[in-house]
Amino acid sequence: MKPSSIMMSCAALLFAAAVTTGCTELTKNMANTSPGPESGNFVGIDAFVQVAEMGRGVNVLSEDPGWTDPAKARFKPEYFKKIHDAGFGTVRIVMQAFDHMDMYYSLEAGWLHRLDIMVDAALDAGLTVILDEHDYLICGKDVAICTQKLNAFWAQVAPRYKNKSAKLIFEILNEPHEAFTPELWNAQIMQTLPVIRATNPVRNVIIGPGSWNSLSLLPKLELPVTDRHIIATFHYYAPMEFTHQGSPWVTQFKLTGRNWGSDADIAQLNKDFDAVKAWSNEWNRPILLGEFGAYETAPMDGRIRYTSALARAAEARGFAWAYWQFDKDFVVYDIDKDAWVEPILHALIPPAGVAP
Ligand code: BGC
Repeated sequence: MKPSSIMMSCAALLFAAAVTTGCTELTKNMANTSPGPESGNFVGIDAFVQVAEMGRGVNVLSEDPGWTDPAKARFKPEYFKKIHDAGFGTVRIVMQAFDHMDMYYSLEAGWLHRLDIMVDAALDAGLTVILDEHDYLICGKDVAICTQKLNAFWAQVAPRYKNKSAKLIFEILNEPHEAFTPELWNAQIMQTLPVIRATNPVRNVIIGPGSWNSLSLLPKLELPVTDRHIIATFHYYAPMEFTHQGSPWVTQFKLTGRNWGSDADIAQLNKDFDAVKAWSNEWNRPILLGEFGAYETAPMDGRIRYTSALARAAEARGFAWAYWQFDKDFVVYDIDKDAWVEPILHALIPPAGVAP
């Protein structure tokens, strides 16, 4: 077969969501033939330009009771303006959508309506909006079920928003891990990305590596080189002994009193972020640090140093970032008091006149 016909059949396979390893390898070596910035009514943004515009962000709406019962919502759409006015440019909307599917994997109309309200309010507030499918725990246990639900999710959500502003970005799946080995995750990307691309050929899509979006797995992440509308992401909670001490869900790290901010801590942070930057340069992909933070039981002075150092280290390398998280835990906004947690907010966004 001539190379051109190989390329054509691979492209056909890509869009039929059935890609073989051979095609994956081939796409890695192909020149950039992705569609231009415009497609239909949609005006795309270069992925590097979008990351520069995203700047500082925050994760919102994870496990908010309002997803199920609007009367119980903690997060209100008007918070998006507060977030914008505090100096953030981006929100990452955390969606556990699998709980809102029927037996045919159709998303509940009410849940989609609530998502519409949040998307519109966030865009109206001037924010870049990431839609993050966050059913990583189900996916880490049962890849077969995850594959079906994830593809069904994007087959419904991607067309719904195909004409929305390019400030809306899709993130295929948070933190693939365990049963979702790096190899299975690479295969999943080549299944799910075409589902999105069928209706959103040039919208930017966020994809991270395996093992909980760990930077150490970036070298194993396989992205189709011809698709230039991809933003790579990683999450950073190292050292877990500091960030997750006392957390009830990572129980091996008890309340140890581990603090953060020594020269060795900072050197490790710089080494890790330099490795991400080197990968970004090698593959010509812009970067989002999609989650970072330290749990409330860690000492506040260390949390401030950690939060500030990570935000500045990301900015120094041109990465956009999104703090974990607005409400629930690691909070930067106290909904009960209706007030920012100022030490964390100021660590993230230094007030005017204060050296970062
Ligand atoms: C999870 C949260 C967890 C956080 C830090 C997120 O990806 O969804 O449940 O609190 O990581 O561990």
